[in-house]
Amino acid sequence: MTKISIIGAGNVGASCAEYIAMKDFASEVVLLDIKEHFAEGKALDLMQTATLNGFNTRITGSTNDYSKTAGSDVVVITSGIPRKPGMTREELIGINAGIVKQVAEQVLTHSPNTIIIVVSNPMDTMTYLALKATGLPKNRIIGMGGILDSSRFKHYLSVALQAPASDVNGMVIGGHGDTTMIPLTRLASYNGAPVSQFIAADALAKVAADTMVGGATLTGMLGTSAWYAPGASVAVLVQSIVCDQKKLFPCCVKLEGEYGQNDICLGVPVIIGKNGWEQIVDVALNDAEKALFEKSAAAVRSMNEVLQSM
Ligand code: NAI
Ligand code: 2OP
Repeated sequence: MTKISIIGAGNVGASCAEYIAMKDFASEVVLLDIKEHFAEGKALDLMQTATLNGFNTRITGSTNDYSKTAGSDVVVITSGIPRKPGMTREELIGINAGIVKQVAEQVLTHSPNTIIIVVSNPMDTMTYLALKATGLPKNRIIGMGGILDSSRFKHYLSVALQAPASDVNGMVIGGHGDTTMIPLTRLASYNGAPVSQFIAADALAKVAADTMVGGATLTGMLGTSAWYAPGASVAVLVQSIVCDQKKLFPCCVKLEGEYGQNDICLGVPVIIGKNGWEQIVDVALNDAEKALFEKSAAAVRSMNEVLQSM
């Protein structure tokens, strides 16, 4: 029996629940929200799609009752406020830090062996906060941002290549911020062939720039931040843990010397399996990419320092 809990039944939380259920690898998904009856309503609505979509996952909702999440194998934290147009992810820290800390502590009381996935923004700092607040072994705290940023990168690459998205490979590392993420254009491929063979340098630079503001573009269009691709990104991450798939994803994890950084959670390629993140993959960066990574780490580090004054 596999149990997944999702804290925050808003746009991203409900989308996660839906994609997880559609993949049908979990026995139970618990949605929890602070708003009365909200998670219960989302769960009921989703359960009424079970016969239509052919899944057996049982989705239940709870208003802030953490005993319902007891014994979860994986807990996803999406609680907090999202961006409004013109806001950066970083501007959310004041409110979301309090929520994420309190939520992570309550989660652990009822699921001491769980693996926690942090989604709330600013995600790199919230992951660092969750790690410090819970004291969990580092492999059991994973921030999700890089999978989403990479899926946006691959989308923009496929448009520029006029190729099917399934033929495109690529990765975004660094922070999950408009100026901190690093689309690795040099390593991106069209089914193994370097994309630079097909896309001119200026067009490739535009792909990277569009990727970096991918979240802001959607926030401008929707009036709040996106949820379909974020939810789908969390679902593949949860599946790789639960099904021990050993997928390689860029995720935000604690660095202890890897990529030249210490005491920080930042996006790097990792292998994801039943123990959470199991191995950091050392992709050889060139000097320009290393400089971008250092700049990204410095920006995230200064955001982490804000936590100390709270
Ligand atoms: P939303 O406003 O639709 O949902 C958030 C939910 O959290 C609300 O239903 C709210 O009632 C609930 N909540 C607030 N405080 C709570 C608490 N103490 N306990 C339980 N529930 C609580 O927002 P949305 O769009 O779902 O975004 C959620 C978070 O995820 C935001 O911080 C957003 O910036 C972030 N995000 C992160 C992404 C990533 O790739 N890391 C991608 C998209 C969004
Ligand atoms: C996104 O990238 C805002 O983190 C959110 O869509």
